[in-house]
Amino acid sequence: MKKTIRDFDLLNKKVIIRCDLNVPIKDGVILDDNRIRSSVKTIKYAIDNNAKVIILSHLGRVSSEEDKIKNSLYPVSIRLSELLNTKVEFIDETRGHVLENAIENMKPKDVILVQNTRYEDYPDKKESKNDPELGKYWASLGDIFINDAFGTAHRCHASNVGIASILPSGIGFLIEQELKMLGDTLNNPKKPYLVIMGGAKINDKIPVIEKLVTKADYILLGGGIANTFLKARGMDIKSSVYDKDSISFASNMLKKYEDKIILPIDGYGSNAYQDGLEVSYSDMTNIPDGIMILDIGPKTIKLFSEYINKAKTVFWNGPVGVSEFSNFEYGTKQVCQTLKESGAIVVVGGGDSAAAAIKFGYKDSFSHISTGGGASLEFIEGKTLPGIDIIEEK
Ligand code: 3PG
Repeated sequence: MKKTIRDFDLLNKKVIIRCDLNVPIKDGVILDDNRIRSSVKTIKYAIDNNAKVIILSHLGRVSSEEDKIKNSLYPVSIRLSELLNTKVEFIDETRGHVLENAIENMKPKDVILVQNTRYEDYPDKKESKNDPELGKYWASLGDIFINDAFGTAHRCHASNVGIASILPSGIGFLIEQELKMLGDTLNNPKKPYLVIMGGAKINDKIPVIEKLVTKADYILLGGGIANTFLKARGMDIKSSVYDKDSISFASNMLKKYEDKIILPIDGYGSNAYQDGLEVSYSDMTNIPDGIMILDIGPKTIKLFSEYINKAKTVFWNGPVGVSEFSNFEYGTKQVCQTLKESGAIVVVGGGDSAAAAIKFGYKDSFSHISTGGGASLEFIEGKTLPGIDIIEEK
């Protein structure tokens, strides 16, 4: 068992909390603050326990001076301050006297947010390569390190692994909850256990499908993944996008798990990958020439609902249609609603499915929405996440 923030006496200690505050921002406006909200519990706990709280996070990727301007954490500091209902001092530096003096002058309950750790990636990738000098420097700023950045736990960076290899360390409440839901709950699911997989690309999800197909009773497929399976089954999917390189994987899966894998039977499409064009509806056996399928249809929703309504545990990863296009959000919305009403334990993987669930108003409707995209997939695959592995055992 990993140590957690509860295992430390935080009184008057400089506690470095690594959060994943990597949220979508456009023109300085935060489009989805879920990751910031999810980080509040650990930060509040540290404040309530009279720590001096130093928060580190990355934002986007930084490989130029322009990227730095685009990826400043300043807007996040404002939102964090609102959510915590306390002042968050933003330090526009990742190292140096300004940062060191600010920390020197901290009193218990003070909160500092340090500028984007990936500013250290330009020009020589110090953060992302886990540069030992950088990890040592950041560790020198605190007494205790708490990792709460689940979304970044699959990275071996200076701001997680580097610091944790030097300071006494534990995990925060967000990571604890992710491990409980993606780990304990999905490893010992109440049966029937149903998996819903969607999204555009299949190749990065192959290891997850391979892993889940052995555990789940049924896998419902949508999106580009389903197209690849339909093609592998020998169907004429007309202009629908599929992954040629994954056809043999899909055929093998269908041979081995024919009864477990449930594919769409009808769908909506268009003659280009674009919103706002004329929408075509058809059965999958009868897609018109020139049409690419971009969403599941009502017969598929009905079919999927029968499985969802029987399930006791559901893991959902990836929208079943192009949910960012208003013409093709129907299927994903219906899946959300059916899941909400099902009474099953519903765990939603991070990334696009989390974004869709939140956008369609289902933020509080499920047992858990992961804050990790790549991290949650790697965790479910069974890979070791370096940012968690490095944390001290109890
Ligand atoms: C994410 O959004 O998946 C995490 O914040 C990790 O970001 P990264 O893929 O840029 O490392």
